[in-house]
Amino acid sequence: MSNNPIGVFDSGVGGLTVLKELVNLLPNENYLYFGDTARIPYGEKTQEQLFCYARGIMEWFKSRNVKAVVMACNTSSAVVYDTIKNDYNFPVFSLIEPTAEYISYVNSPKIGVLATSATVNSRAYSKAVHKINPSKEIIEVACPGLVELVENNKTDTYEAKKLVIKYVAPLLEKRVGHIILGCTHYPYLSNIIADVTNDKEMLVNPAKFLGEKVVESLLSNDLLNAEALGSRQYFASSNTAMFVEAGKRFYPDIEQAQELVIGEVSSIIK
Ligand code: DGL
Repeated sequence: MSNNPIGVFDSGVGGLTVLKELVNLLPNENYLYFGDTARIPYGEKTQEQLFCYARGIMEWFKSRNVKAVVMACNTSSAVVYDTIKNDYNFPVFSLIEPTAEYISYVNSPKIGVLATSATVNSRAYSKAVHKINPSKEIIEVACPGLVELVENNKTDTYEAKKLVIKYVAPLLEKRVGHIILGCTHYPYLSNIIADVTNDKEMLVNPAKFLGEKVVESLLSNDLLNAEALGSRQYFASSNTAMFVEAGKRFYPDIEQAQELVIGEVSSIIK
């Protein structure tokens, strides 16, 4: 069991920012990465659609004998995690709770969250933080358009800068002390975001806290891979070439992505 793979999924290349953190912390593990590029952007989908996508992907991972699944997608973590996390006999990890645990104790009364529309509408970050520390003011801003810029490899453009200014300015006006990058695509834009905030230190990447949770859980369940060398396999549900192109800037290892026909995944839930 301990050398079985860890499933990691997102709507596209965003989750690679999480995979990178996982591989840094747990290089000996075997990873199966799935980017659901056929159905991106998740942030503009309904709860029913997101549930259905996540269920299909989880079942596919299950058929691949994973020992754990990481939802490397804030939108799925926010909208479907609570409903499906107990349906499997392996642990499932979300980005929201570990980040909320950290942010609840930082020294700023106001926290900004940049996220997709679906994540913001769910208020998952506000709810998770308020469970621990009701005194924190959480200001969530939906950022439509950023995910598409990342997927299309257009992060170093005027268009990207303009959108980032539009979304970050209200947070700076409210004098937030930290900004959570509440979508796994946004670390691709962290240089531009830091230019606008003029302070890289205030940006919080949830991948770090999720990674620590995964290590903790595998250790305590005696599930760490005992073999010396880990492996990584990548799958995208469409447009693999673009997936590789956009992903390799953040994660050069992606070059070996394989195309997985979306039907193979969705047929499992029919
Ligand atoms: N990267 C995902 C997230 O963390 C989903 C982005 C999208 O497809 O809209 O929310």
